[in-house]
Parts: sequence; structure tokens; C-alpha cells
Amino acid sequence: MSKLILGIETSCDDTSVAILKDHVDSVELLAHETFGQEDSLAEWGGVVPEIAARNHLQKMAPLLESCFKKAGLQYSDIDLIGVTALPGLLGPLLTGLNAAKTLALYNEKPILPVNHLYAHLEAVHLTEKIEYPYLGLLISGGHSAFFLVTSKDEFKVLGGTIDDAAGEAFDKGGKLLGLGYPAGRVIDELSKKGDPNKYEFPIGLKASADCRFSFSGLKTSLRVFLENNPSFLENKESQEFYDLCASYQEAIVKAMALKTKYAFKKAKEISGLSSLPLVVGGGVACNSAIRERLQTKFQNVQFVHPAYCADNGAMIGNFAR
Ligand code: KG4
Ligand code: ZN
Repeated sequence: MSKLILGIETSCDDTSVAILKDHVDSVELLAHETFGQEDSLAEWGGVVPEIAARNHLQKMAPLLESCFKKAGLQYSDIDLIGVTALPGLLGPLLTGLNAAKTLALYNEKPILPVNHLYAHLEAVHLTEKIEYPYLGLLISGGHSAFFLVTSKDEFKVLGGTIDDAAGEAFDKGGKLLGLGYPAGRVIDELSKKGDPNKYEFPIGLKASADCRFSFSGLKTSLRVFLENNPSFLENKESQEFYDLCASYQEAIVKAMALKTKYAFKKAKEISGLSSLPLVVGGGVACNSAIRERLQTKFQNVQFVHPAYCADNGAMIGNFAR
């Protein structure tokens, strides 16, 4: 029997709701509405929790209304509500949780709190069939970590960042480069025109044969580079600026490839398997250079579909299945 699920996501700066039909062995996305706050947060250079929470409050009801209209459904038709419960910013999380609780109470429906990190990786099942166990690499604006995923309910952390997340490396680097917020997509685009081997930037924890990341040194080295070479910022359409973006990005790409190698080793040791798939999710998984490098270096790599990499309600509804 199929089941109708409402997914609600408000952990950070995206207000997103989705209605999914769960057919047990597959899932159908009936409607999906997202309001990204990038424009209203750009002037602050990052996420301001108070502003993000107020935006969620404003957008939640219209997004829900529009989603139900598109799906041709009533609130009472829903069988289950999945909502991001953790991790995230408290104010933003509370707006989503309150919307979900209100709908659940009023319509007498069950509610399922969802772990946002797990939902990012499991979003792969919105478009692909992947067997367990798999090695999961979550790279987003707030997190960078490897998981051994043995079932939808069993996520074992293998290692993660000791300071900044991969997304922060892009966003903080982008800020230094004068590229606004968030900068991941822009750096990705500019890097396509540049030489990734032109300048050398440090790979965090390169000498450690483990799956921890560190990106704070990379950001500092870019700051020092720009202090010594301020002219690079004068023309953002110059070859030297493209080369700088590509070289900075390359340090992140190399860190991904190196640490994935160690994560595979650890995942194989723990699972006792000689091979397992790699699933990559989170906003940074949209990055074209990371996609290309991991697909070249490793076998059986599956990226979450770009439409479901950044924060979205579909992945929350999907996890609640
Ligand atoms: O998953 P997400 O929406 O946020 C968290 O859950 O934290 O990811 C947002 C992050 C931002 O840091 C953004 O700069 C980055 O994803 N991002 C990218 C790309 N597109 C988005 N980073 C690198 N390359 C991209 N193409
Ligand atoms: Zn996220």
C-alpha cells in the first residue's frame, strides 16, 4: 500500500517542503517547494539565525499551501509527517518543528523527527537503488564526515572535520575572494576556466592516514596569499583569478580524494567486505571537480542527484518512509 508523506526542512537557511508517495520499493515526488534565503542573507555574508528563523516563519504557510495545491491534496490526506529535528540552528529548527506538530495534531497524523545528516545521504534513494552497506561522504555547508551506513537506521561515523566544513572552506574562501555568499557554486564555475595546478594550497591533515578533514589552514593560506598578492582581486575576470580559484578548489578536491581512500580502508575493515559503494551527498556534492575526481579515482561512486544535494524537504520526507 502506498503512503503519503510530508517532508519539512528548516534547519538552516532553506525553507523546503515536499509531498512524496511511498510505494515501498520506490518513491514518487508529488510536489516540492523551496525558498532559498541566499539573497536576504548575502548582505550579512552568511547565515544569521534570527533572520533565517523569521524568513522560515514567513514562508512556511505559503510553501505548504502551494505544495498541497500542486499535489492536488488536502492536509488530511497525509499519512505521515517527517521533519528535521537535528542538527541545525535552534530558531530555524523550531519553526519547522512547530509547523509539523501543528499539522500532526490538527489532522491526527504521526510525526517522525529526522536527522538531517542521515537524510542528506539517504537522498540517493530518491533517484537510485543502492544496496547497504555503503560508505557515505557528507559534504555540506555545516558538516563534512564519513559514515558507514549499514541500514537506514545505522550510521557509524568513521571520521569528519576537526574544524571547518567543506562548504565553509568554499564560502570563507569565497568571502576572501570577494565572491559573496554562498560561494561554492561560483568558485566551481570560475575554476572551470582556471589551471588547478598553478598555485599550491595546503591539504589539511595530509600526513594523517585517517579520514579526518581540516580546512581552516587552507582558508588562512588563501588570506596570506591575498595579503601578499592584492592585485589578484582587481580583476575577477582575469586568467590569474581563475587560476587562483581553481588552485584553491583543487586543495579541497585533493583532500576529498585522499581522505576517501582512507575511509574506504576503514569501512572495508569494519564491514569485512572487499568492496562497497560510495554515496556522496550535501550541497558541496554538487561540485563538478569533486564529482569528476571521485568518479575517476574510485569504483561504484554514486552522487546524490544535484536537485537533492542542498537542503530540501524531499530528502526529509524520503528519510521518514
Ligand atoms: O547542504 P547544504 O545546503 O547546507 C548544509 O546543510 O549545511 O550546502 C550548502 C553548501 C554551501 O557551503 C555552498 O557553498 C555549497 O554547499 N555548494 C557548493 C556548490 N554548490 C553549493 N560547493 C562547491 N561547489 C558547488 N557547486
Ligand atoms: Zn544540509
